[in-house]
Amino acid sequence: MHDDTKEQVGMSRRRFLVVSGGAALALLLRHGLAAASEGQAVQEFLETTCGQGQPAAPRVLIAYASRCGSTGGLAMAMAGELCGLGAAVDVRLVENVKDISPYQAVMVGSAIRRGRWLSEATAFVKTHQATLSRLPLAYFVACLTMREDTPENRAKVLAYLEPLRKAAPGLNPLAVGLFAGALDFGKLSFMDKTVMEARGAAEGDYRDLPAVKAWAAGQAPGLLARQGRG
Ligand SMILES: Cc1cc2nc3c(=O)[nH]c(=O)nc-3n(C[C@H](O)[C@H](O)[C@H](O)COP(=O)(O)O)c2cc1C
Repeated sequence: MHDDTKEQVGMSRRRFLVVSGGAALALLLRHGLAAASEGQAVQEFLETTCGQGQPAAPRVLIAYASRCGSTGGLAMAMAGELCGLGAAVDVRLVENVKDISPYQAVMVGSAIRRGRWLSEATAFVKTHQATLSRLPLAYFVACLTMREDTPENRAKVLAYLEPLRKAAPGLNPLAVGLFAGALDFGKLSFMDKTVMEARGAAEGDYRDLPAVKAWAAGQAPGLLARQGRG
C-alpha cells in the first residue's frame, strides 16, 4: 500500500486540540480520558494562537505536519518563544491553513517518515510557493536520526529535504531546524509498529525543547525584522 494511503486511514482517529489559556488542560484531560476509556492511544495535534494583543506585531505562521503529534510540541515551543519576542503567532496543521496572505513570516515543519517530509507538508509549500518566495521562511524537521546531533546525521536529515527542494526549487529558507522527535509505539499502526520494532527503534521522547526555543529565538531577527522580500 502506498504510504500516504495507509496513513490517511488513521486520520479518523485524529484529535485536534486548540490550546488557549486555561481551557487547554480541561480539553487535554477530556480528550485523554475519552481515549483511555476507548482503549486507544490518544493522538493530539496542537494548535494555538498567541501574541495577538498588539496590533502592530508581525504575524507569523508556524504550519506543521505530523502523524503522532510530537512535532506539534516543537511548533508550540517555537511559538512561545516568538510571541515572547513580540510576534503574533498562529500554530496550525498544514491541512488547516488555506490562506497565508495575512502573515509576514512563515515556518513550515514536518515529521519524517521513511526518509522524507510528510506529503501534506511538501504539498503545502508547493501550493504556497509564490507567496512564500516573498516572505521570510524557515523549515524544520522532526525525526529520530537527530537523537544524535552529529555532522553525519545532519547531512542525512538535510538529504531528507531533497524532494521538498525539487517540489519548490525557487524557495530559499533562512534556516532549517533539525530536531529530534518522539516515538510512541502506542500511537502507531500495527504495520508501522512492526517496522519500527524490526529496525530496533527505541520508544522515547527525544525532543529538546530548550534547544528548539533557542533555535527559534535565533531566527527571530530574520523572521521578524524583514517585512517581505518582494
Ligand atoms: C513509520 C515511521 C517511519 C519513520 N521514518 C523515519 C526516518 O526515515 N528517519 C528518521 O530519522 N525518523 C523516522 N521516523 C521517526 C519520526 O520522524 C519521529 O518519530 C517523529 O518525531 C514523529 O513525529 P510526529 O509524532 O509528529 O508524527 C519514523 C517513524 C515512523 C513511525
